[in-house]
Amino acid sequence: MNWTVEPARHLSGDIVVPGDKSISHRAVLLASVADGESVIDGLADGQDLASSIEAIRVLGAEVDKEGADIRIRGCGLEGLRPANQTINCGNSGTTMRLLAGLLAGQHFTSTLTGDASLCSRPMRRVAEPLHAMGASVRTSRDGTPPLEIAGPGCLRAITFRPEVASAQVKSCVLLAGLYADGPTTVVEGCRTRDHSERLLVAMGADVSILTEGSGGRVTIQQGRPLGTISGRIPGDISSAAYWLVGATLLEGSRLRLPGVGMNPTRAAIVDLLVDWGADIQIEPTEEWCGEPVADLMVRGVGPVLAGGVIDADMVPGLIDELPLIAALGAMTLDGVEINGASELRVKESDRIATTAAALRSLGVVVDEYPEGLAVAGGQALNSGTINAAGDHRIALAMAAVGLTAHGLVTIENAEAMAVSYPGFATVLESVAQR
Ligand code: S3P
Repeated sequence: MNWTVEPARHLSGDIVVPGDKSISHRAVLLASVADGESVIDGLADGQDLASSIEAIRVLGAEVDKEGADIRIRGCGLEGLRPANQTINCGNSGTTMRLLAGLLAGQHFTSTLTGDASLCSRPMRRVAEPLHAMGASVRTSRDGTPPLEIAGPGCLRAITFRPEVASAQVKSCVLLAGLYADGPTTVVEGCRTRDHSERLLVAMGADVSILTEGSGGRVTIQQGRPLGTISGRIPGDISSAAYWLVGATLLEGSRLRLPGVGMNPTRAAIVDLLVDWGADIQIEPTEEWCGEPVADLMVRGVGPVLAGGVIDADMVPGLIDELPLIAALGAMTLDGVEINGASELRVKESDRIATTAAALRSLGVVVDEYPEGLAVAGGQALNSGTINAAGDHRIALAMAAVGLTAHGLVTIENAEAMAVSYPGFATVLESVAQR
């Protein structure tokens, strides 16, 4: 599907962004092994989450879903049953990597696969620690899916130091730790999003967290039954980011985004935009399961943000926003340089290459490096056609900055947006003033 974004003068109105995708995956997967019925509203509504929901269904959890509300009758830690089919994780790396941890703790064998993009993504990063814990995890010869996971029933507790900063890997090992024979520890050199830790604590698991410089050490004790979850999942700050950037660039904009998750391991995008000169007001509201939440109000200032350098230690906190930040870079004063971000090459697309290609299609000069990219400031976007390359974040980032282009921006394969934000185009039309 091709979708054409028309430039806007400004954006105004209220936008309730979809529930946080990372938190929704964890809520669904953990509710499936809780004792009792979880009733959750405001779930993420994209295809990625549908993959997690379908996975727990075929593993024996009872699920009733109505729109963004869901009831999940958990099976208890020991109650999942073998799926009598290959579990299809679609485009969702979070589904595959977190589920791998949960399935390694079972006493049956499971097979996980996904779409062409997911089947090209690295899985040794989860297979290796799970193997060290005593599970048998087979990948393709290249270390990619499908994954065949044979759980021995009880796993060995380990202390694991991931080579890459990845919340999915950390969470995989922590979920497997629920089934270990002692405390399981993950030591991170650079802290990644901590939604698993917060939700596990809220559900009654014994999790301790020690901060060590920019890293930390998370330990989970095995075997404690998990309580249920209820209430409303915070809005997704990564989805809010498109609106924050679009509105900021268009002077005169005024958008209110109620109920956005402001977990400090995710909220770096807001700090960065404010540091660079954006006008964003933050009004904290009630927490959900240890997750800070706030109403955000953004007012447009025009293409006058400072820009700056993103170094390796900032990358985990901004990982999903980096294509958007790179695209914004063209309209900053000093430009944007992103370093130490080779992880972008193994996302839903090679996001260094796809971001650079999309920006070049709109006439922006971009320097691409093995581990990042640099976009000079003071550039305007021409009209043009970009290819989303099957990657929701590329489609959404280019739509957000495309609002400022000198003409129409056509996004090929824009259906990828449905992975995390199916309603984006409709919301855009309701807030764009032309
Ligand atoms: C996620 C972690 C990040 C992020 C992804 C969601 C999560 O991936 O890019 O969109 O929910 O844990 P990595 O763990 O691979 O960095």
